[in-house]
Amino acid sequence: MKEQLLAIKQTALKAMSEAKTLQEIEDIRILYLSKKSEISSLMSKLRDLPQEERPAFGALVNQVKTEIELALYEKKGKLEEEALNQLLATEKIDVTLPGYQFYQGQIHPLNQVIEDIEDLFIGLGYEVADGPELENDHYNFEMMNLDKDHPARAMQDSFYVDENTLLRTHTSPVQARTMLLKKGAPLRIICPGKVYRRDDDDPTHSHQFMQIEGLVIDEKITFAHLKDALLTMVRHLFGSERTIRLRPSYFPFTEPSVEVDVSYQKKDGTTGWIEVLGAGRVHPNVLKMGGYDPDHYQGFAFGIGVERIAILRYAIDDIRHFYTNDVRFLSQFKGVNR
Ligand code: DAH
Repeated sequence: MKEQLLAIKQTALKAMSEAKTLQEIEDIRILYLSKKSEISSLMSKLRDLPQEERPAFGALVNQVKTEIELALYEKKGKLEEEALNQLLATEKIDVTLPGYQFYQGQIHPLNQVIEDIEDLFIGLGYEVADGPELENDHYNFEMMNLDKDHPARAMQDSFYVDENTLLRTHTSPVQARTMLLKKGAPLRIICPGKVYRRDDDDPTHSHQFMQIEGLVIDEKITFAHLKDALLTMVRHLFGSERTIRLRPSYFPFTEPSVEVDVSYQKKDGTTGWIEVLGAGRVHPNVLKMGGYDPDHYQGFAFGIGVERIAILRYAIDDIRHFYTNDVRFLSQFKGVNR
């Protein structure tokens, strides 16, 4: 039986060395190592051997099986490598084939306007600041020179969480926060962000919208600096042929205050004006509360509505389009102004 076993091993190894395909290797495995193989049937004849020869024969069977298994494993690896090399040698990648088309989103039109304005002001040496949307009454109103019973609060009714905490009604509280942070040092910031007002939504009103606040504080800041910043911004946004018109206005945090109109050409060739933002020289009280001595420092500030800019720029008929996430609307702004 031992000779028989060794003979099986020889034929198995020979077959293996001659095998040329993975399928042949698999056939050899079934023939020599499966439950129905000759080796297995020899194992079942173990009982016919004298008792004392059984362990040695059992061990030999296992040894033969392991040898065959090892040889099989090695040969299989070799054949697989050969197959891969052959594939690599023959297969060519056609780089001219078109790639897969993925759906590509684009930057939201409001963020396009914000990024555009940020780019402009960063280039002029401004920093981008931000503050919380859930704001303290102290920053939102009091530090902006609107006492608890100030009548101008009525124009900015909001959503209160408790008596002293509200969703900010404008980005102006970031002025106060930044002043305290800068501890009396000159500053130039813009601050884009969401703001909230208690309002009934319709094509031109939304209870949530976006603003960009601007604030510059330094020595010898005059109204001319404000005019220059406003004109630069308006021309950047709407074109170099535009001009601005300032109308006297009132904001508690600036004195004097102005509404800023931008010019446009009417169909009949005459000039029309559209109001785009509010601005002014920083009120001395606001400077004082922010830690600046109004005798040495002056400032200017402005607040601009992002939706309003986008509406004018892209001729949009309903402010609610910005928030309803309709891809038919949003996909129209692919790469606009970028
Ligand atoms: N905070 C004002 C508003 O929401 C806008 C504004 C006007 C901001 C004049 C300013 C400013 O900084 O100087 O109506």
